[in-house]
Amino acid sequence: MATSGFLIKGFSNRKPLEGLLRVTGAKNAVLKAQAASVLFKDKILLRNVPFIKDVGKMNELLEDLGVVVEQKGKRSFSFNAPKVLKTDLNSSAAKLFRSSVVLSGPILAREGKVRFPHPGGCVIGQRPIDVFLDAFQKMGAELKIQGPFYELKAKKLKGTEIFFKAQSVTATETVMMTAVLVNGITVLHNCACEPEIACLAKFLNSAGANIIGAGTHTIIVRGGNVLMSGVFNTPPDRIEAGTFAVIAALCGKNLKIANCDPSQMGAVLRALSEVGASVEKGKNCLLIKGPRALRPTDVKTNAYPGFSTDLQAPFSVVLTQAKGRSLLFETIFEGRLNYLSDLKRMGANIVACDPHRAIITGPTRLTGRETKSPDLRAGLAFLIAGMVADGDSLVNNAYNIDRGYEKIEERLNAVGANIKRIINNE
Ligand code: EPU
Repeated sequence: MATSGFLIKGFSNRKPLEGLLRVTGAKNAVLKAQAASVLFKDKILLRNVPFIKDVGKMNELLEDLGVVVEQKGKRSFSFNAPKVLKTDLNSSAAKLFRSSVVLSGPILAREGKVRFPHPGGCVIGQRPIDVFLDAFQKMGAELKIQGPFYELKAKKLKGTEIFFKAQSVTATETVMMTAVLVNGITVLHNCACEPEIACLAKFLNSAGANIIGAGTHTIIVRGGNVLMSGVFNTPPDRIEAGTFAVIAALCGKNLKIANCDPSQMGAVLRALSEVGASVEKGKNCLLIKGPRALRPTDVKTNAYPGFSTDLQAPFSVVLTQAKGRSLLFETIFEGRLNYLSDLKRMGANIVACDPHRAIITGPTRLTGRETKSPDLRAGLAFLIAGMVADGDSLVNNAYNIDRGYEKIEERLNAVGANIKRIINNE
C-alpha cells in the first residue's frame, strides 16, 4: 500500500522563515457543524471549510447515511439530510476518527435508533465514550454493546438533567445537539467550555434552537424545535494558529500569522512570552519573534482557556531549545507524551517521570531522524523538530498530519521551509 511521508531539510544554517501564514477553518468546529446537518430538515451551508482528511471522512460518513454533500464554492459546502436517515454508521470510516461519535446522538434523536463502532482517531489515551452513553441512557435510550459496536434505541428521548462525569468537548457537543431535537428541557452540568461549543450553539440557535449557556459549565436546551436551514461560518483554527506561533518562535523572522483569533490563544501566547518570544497581537493576526536564547518554562495542559493539550507536543520542541529545565505536564490524555521517545532519539534531553509528566532540559541540538506520526499533533511536533534539526528528517504516516492540517508542506514552504511529500510503497 502506498503511504506518504514528509522529508524535511533541517533549518539550521538556513534562512529564517518569513512572510505570511494564513490560518484555515477550525477542524474541531467544522466537524461538529457537518454532523449537525442531520438535525436539519433542509439544506445547510458551511463556509470556510478546511481541506483536511477528517472533513473528507465526515463527508463520507454523512453521504453513506444518505446526506447529499455538494461543493458550492471554493471553501463552501452544502449538506442536505434525507427524510429518513440510515442508522448504521459506516464502520470502516467511523473507526478512523473520533468525531464520528458526534453523529450518534443526533441520529438517535431523529430516528430513534443508532448503531456505531467505538470511534478511532488519535492514539493519545483510552478515550472512552462512557459520558456519551450515560447521557443517552439518562435521556431514555436503551443500550446494547455487541463487541466493538454500540446500539442505542429509544421510542422517545426526553429532556432531563445530566451531570457529566468528565468535561468532554465532543460529549458536550453531542448531547447538546441531541437535546435540540428532544422534547422538554435538558440541563447539562460540568460541560466543557471550548470555544467550538459556543460556536456550534450559536449556529444552532441561529436556525431556531434554544440553547443557553454554551461556553460555560452549564448548558440549558429547550428542545423540540424544528431546524429548517442555516449557514455556518467556520471560525479560524486556534490550534493551527498556535502551531504556527510555535514555528514562528523557533524558526521565524517577520513571520505573520493571519486569519486567526488571538483572543482564543491566551495560554499559548503567555507561554511563548514566558520563553522570551515577542508577541504582537492584531485583531485577526499575530507577529511572533523568537528571542536569541529561549528561556525554560513549565507547561501544564488544561481545559480551555488553559494551555491546550493539542499544543503540548508542538510546544515541547520549543522546550528542547530553551536554556534550562522545563516541566511538561499533560493532564488530559494519559498517552499523549509517548511521542517524546522519538524526540529523545533526535537528541533531546528528556526524562519521563510518569505517563503525564516529563522534564525537558535544553538547549540540545537535534539531529534529523526517521519517525512516524503517531497522532496529528505529535506528527506536527516531529515536523517542527525536523525543521529545527541538523540534517534531514523523515516523518512517515503523513495521513495523521493531513487529518488536521491542510497542505502543511506547501504552506510552510511558501514562507521558506524545505519539506517534500514523498510516497512510500509499502
Ligand atoms: N472522557 C471520558 N469519557 C468520555 C469522554 C471523555 O472519560 O466519554 C475523558 C477523556 O478520556 C479525556 C477528557 O475526558 O481525559 C477530555 O476528553 P474530551 O472528550 O474532551 O476529548 P474529545 O472530545 O475526544 C476533543 C478534540 C481533541 C482535543 C480534546 C481536548 C475533537 C474532534 N477533538 O476531543 O482534539 O484534544 O477535545 O480539548 O473535537 C486534535 O484536534 O488533535 C484533538 C485530539
